[in-house]
Amino acid sequence: MKNAKSSKTPSLSSFAIEISPFPPMALLSSASPTRSIVVPALLLLSAASGALLLFCLLPSLSPSTPSSCSCSCPATSTTTTTVTTTTTSPSAKSIPTSTSQEDVLWLKKLLAQNLLVDVPLSQAEWHELRKGINPRTRAQQLQDLLNFHGIAHYEGLEAENHTALPCPGELLVEEHHSNYGEPWAGGRDVFEFLASATNLSPSDMVMEIGCGTLRVGIHFIQYLDPNHFHCLQRDKLSLMAALRYELPAHGLLYKRPLIIKGEDMDFTNFGEGVSYDLIYASAVFLHIPDKLVWVGLERLASRLKPGKGRIFVSHNIKFCRRLGGEECKRRLTNLGLEYVGVQTHDSVLFNHYETWFEFRRLKV
Ligand SMILES: C[S@@+](CC[C@H](N)C(=O)[O-])C[C@H]1O[C@@H](n2cnc3c(N)ncnc32)[C@H](O)[C@@H]1O
Repeated sequence: MKNAKSSKTPSLSSFAIEISPFPPMALLSSASPTRSIVVPALLLLSAASGALLLFCLLPSLSPSTPSSCSCSCPATSTTTTTVTTTTTSPSAKSIPTSTSQEDVLWLKKLLAQNLLVDVPLSQAEWHELRKGINPRTRAQQLQDLLNFHGIAHYEGLEAENHTALPCPGELLVEEHHSNYGEPWAGGRDVFEFLASATNLSPSDMVMEIGCGTLRVGIHFIQYLDPNHFHCLQRDKLSLMAALRYELPAHGLLYKRPLIIKGEDMDFTNFGEGVSYDLIYASAVFLHIPDKLVWVGLERLASRLKPGKGRIFVSHNIKFCRRLGGEECKRRLTNLGLEYVGVQTHDSVLFNHYETWFEFRRLKV
């Protein structure tokens, strides 16, 4: 198998040459090298305007190519831009952060149109639905990858030549989607809740403590401006899955999230003077020693934006409760923080809810 780069598919630049309105000079004067043809100025002018007209019509004749050109556009090398590719992405502000009732109605209608309202209840019904589809378990997929490296694959040195960043089979079969028990899709719920609760905007700065495999973080990264997502993460396997699989697989490398390995609540590598609109720990603080949580809060308190900034902690705040209400409040006050309250978040999308505890900077 050959490298795809040797393919004959015309590049954008060769396409531009093919549709160029200006025929090469040789074509104008080469009927015979010995014959000198004097082309009347009028003829030349009408040929050129005919070509220009044709050039401007071409994009609008093509159904897949929106016309971005009026007849006044210059016939220069910028002709390639008629092939629609643009480097500016649609305004992230227009991307909704949560699922609306209209979304759900639309989905229900589509399900109904496709006779998918009732889901199978028994294994036999699922089996009947599968027909020609024989799903492989992750273990079987991994074995296939180890044995056959996938269907069409490069081996040895060729693999190095053709793949920038070979991904281990263990990550390709997405074992890490089950690392932390709850469904992978729950990450979207968490994002939608936190983004709505904080009225998040793409230019906000977000820090996740313990982002794991990016089950939640990937949605923040997608939504936020480049460099606006930070994470401190302890576990090496989860980090590997996040960096070597999730980010490239979602096409989000360009967002340059700052994800740093660490377990000591040391935030010095995230830069001096960075302040966050949202700091959250999803299913993390319940697993780590209270003392470490307090170290983290102490170091992050001054990095939380006054006013808008929020810290959200999921599941429970045993690090606080164990101290007793008054003592906890005193310690929070010493750090310049206050407890706002607790919210239970029902998922619109999946059968799931989560409890979130909210903190902010003390008003001065
Ligand atoms: C239950 S997982 C949740 C992961 C992710 N937040 C999510 O919701 O999918 C807890 C994560 O916290 C990380 N973690 C635990 N202690 C940590 C610490 N001291 N510093 C940073 N990360 C930590 C673990 O490695 C693990 O990835």
